[in-house]
Amino acid sequence: MANERRPENMVRITTPELAQAFIDEQIKAMQEQIGDKKVLLALSGGVDSSVVAALLIKAVGNQLTCVHVNHGLLRKGEPEQVIEVFQNQMKANLVYVDATDRFLDKLAGVTDPETKRMIIGGEFIEVFAEEARKLDGVEFLAQGTIWPDILESEKGIKAHHNAGGLPEDLNFELVEPVKILFKDEVRVVGKQLGLPDGMVYRQPFPGPGLGVRCPGAITRERLEAVRESDAILREEFAKNGLEGKVWQYFTVVPDFKSTGIKDGKRAFEWSVIIRAVNTTDAMTAEVEEIPFALMHHLVKRITHEVPGVNRVLYDFTPKPTGTIEFE
Ligand code: XMP
Repeated sequence: MANERRPENMVRITTPELAQAFIDEQIKAMQEQIGDKKVLLALSGGVDSSVVAALLIKAVGNQLTCVHVNHGLLRKGEPEQVIEVFQNQMKANLVYVDATDRFLDKLAGVTDPETKRMIIGGEFIEVFAEEARKLDGVEFLAQGTIWPDILESEKGIKAHHNAGGLPEDLNFELVEPVKILFKDEVRVVGKQLGLPDGMVYRQPFPGPGLGVRCPGAITRERLEAVRESDAILREEFAKNGLEGKVWQYFTVVPDFKSTGIKDGKRAFEWSVIIRAVNTTDAMTAEVEEIPFALMHHLVKRITHEVPGVNRVLYDFTPKPTGTIEFE
């Protein structure tokens, strides 16, 4: 591998030229490391794993197999985008696993946030391991580890292995081509690799996905309300120039209903909470001041287009006291 650690004097990658130099260097390093062997990658569609996939496709083409696990908690259009970009456009070997039923069945009735996270993480590893065992002769596992992950794991803040914790029979050598990069550099590299802006400049999205935005026990109906309202929020933020400006924005549908009126009849339905925050490091966060006219428009669209929703609320709470996510 080219570099185990980020060189002290490394120039921050901010231009297409610097990105291209990094890409050329990594392609060469990966070709040397991998030779004619096979590589496996868990491709979530997030910036880091997408950039790793695009780099590996350039370096070793079809020696790479990408596995995209749909845990049923992804945002609207995400699995489709992964298939479109990597399978249709980049001609990657992509295994798409729709494991929605498996995840939602395991999560049924589970209310504790940390238990929900553990089930989602554990099931993810199981599904991925099952797919890995179906493939012959894979010796390498690629991961979208980035430099802050390494620093945080050294400080004991978090374990950095994204697809870590694989069962012992799956003993792969790691390929981590972006591990000396900061997030902003990964984006510049992704742009240079030709990935779509929607992927490169994506807002952060938690691993447990919409599961943490459907507080308490997840039901399919409430999850759909989260997914549909999130899609409307993202569409409206994009149309109104807020997409690249607001750090993170999403909707939450808590597990309570309130009385309302729809088509002249009593409607006992859910509320959608909108959250939009700005931060630099996610340790603290301030609430975005959404223009009132846009707020009214969002209320109208969400209450009219999302089944089972009769109210829309805005979360004015900074972090602290609130966290960014609800669970
Ligand atoms: P909180 O809610 O702790 O979130 O203020 C800070 C940032 O971390 C993201 N987040 C997660 N990301 N797995 C992840 O990969 C998780 O379990 C998780 N929980 C929160 C959150 O979206 C925000 O960007």
